[in-house]
Amino acid sequence: MSISAKIVGVGACVPQKMVDNHMLEAIMDTSDEWIVKRTGIRERRLVTEETNTEMAISAAKQAMDHADVSPDDIGIIVGCTITSDFATPSLASLVQKGIGCGMAAAMDVAAGCTGFIYALATITSMMDTLGVDTGLLVAAENLSCRMNWEDRATCILFGDGAGAVVVKRSEENHIKHPFLRAIPDTDDVLFIKNKRNDNPWSAAQANDDISLTMKGQDVFVFAVDAMEKSIKHLEAAMGDTKIDKIVPHQANNRIIQFAANSTHFDKDQFYVNVDKYANTSSATIPIALKEAHDSGWLKKGDEVALVGFGAGLTYGGIVVKWAI
Ligand code: ACO
Repeated sequence: MSISAKIVGVGACVPQKMVDNHMLEAIMDTSDEWIVKRTGIRERRLVTEETNTEMAISAAKQAMDHADVSPDDIGIIVGCTITSDFATPSLASLVQKGIGCGMAAAMDVAAGCTGFIYALATITSMMDTLGVDTGLLVAAENLSCRMNWEDRATCILFGDGAGAVVVKRSEENHIKHPFLRAIPDTDDVLFIKNKRNDNPWSAAQANDDISLTMKGQDVFVFAVDAMEKSIKHLEAAMGDTKIDKIVPHQANNRIIQFAANSTHFDKDQFYVNVDKYANTSSATIPIALKEAHDSGWLKKGDEVALVGFGAGLTYGGIVVKWAI
């Protein structure tokens, strides 16, 4: 399956507050050395003043400026988050208001850290279905509000941030071979519970743990396999056309290294910025795209594989021919 659309603008926004590993050493029993060796993470940005919605709007405005589109050009907004400020309305609706967009379709997609890949496949399909020319995809996460800051094995892994892309229909296919998978019966490996119903007649306790819970080693094994399967699937789908570069979900540098080892790609064909931002869930890939574009690492015409994995458990990939 191929979709006739291309990415024409990228934007990103991360919180001002940088927290490096040494700052974590001051509040928990950990070390910079342990974190860097196990994950490659050196620092992350954490929300202090900002909200998830504000980061999303800022990233969206940047992407629209980059694409030179006005709010009223946008026919559909897809939000992507597991940590929205609101259960409802959707992040997409909040962004619609924030950017001053008139009538448009607005909806969210949630697929854990694979969210951006699912959402990119969704927005291009919806643009075809609705006959819309321009779409805005925004991924934003405020994971630090769902961390257990006493669980040193998880809270050191995550950060906050947002990224956005503008998608336009095009003659040539630039967003290709979406590959989306979810493994059944794996919901206990990585999850964040919502608050339970504590209405006056409910037996539930109000103080449920609503922080992120993860079986780290199980996720590691799954992630390495998911990356390998996704990359190999995309390569097969591309046939004789080679994949030039890979922008992976930024969870852990060791996972990316394993993916390089299990495929024929060199490590330097993978874009890596997990050292600076840690894991911002669905926002890692668009933040990486923004940086990779601005630095010149991504070049017009590159065939880029986006690959990810996350809660669900979900995983997958999609190929983007870089058009800007
Ligand atoms: N600092 C110091 N020591 C720590 C820390 C820490 N922050 N966290 C755990 N330890 C200790 C443990 O207590 C344990 O000590 P013990 O041997 O005395 O019991 C020791 O380090 C080893 O613990 P392990 O859990 O075996 O460490 P491991 O090598 O597996 O690394 C990690 C843990 C980094 C979480 C690894 O399993 C991993 O990267 N998993 C993938 C996690 C991930 O990427 N999740 C997100 C992906 S999906 C998504 O993006 C939502």
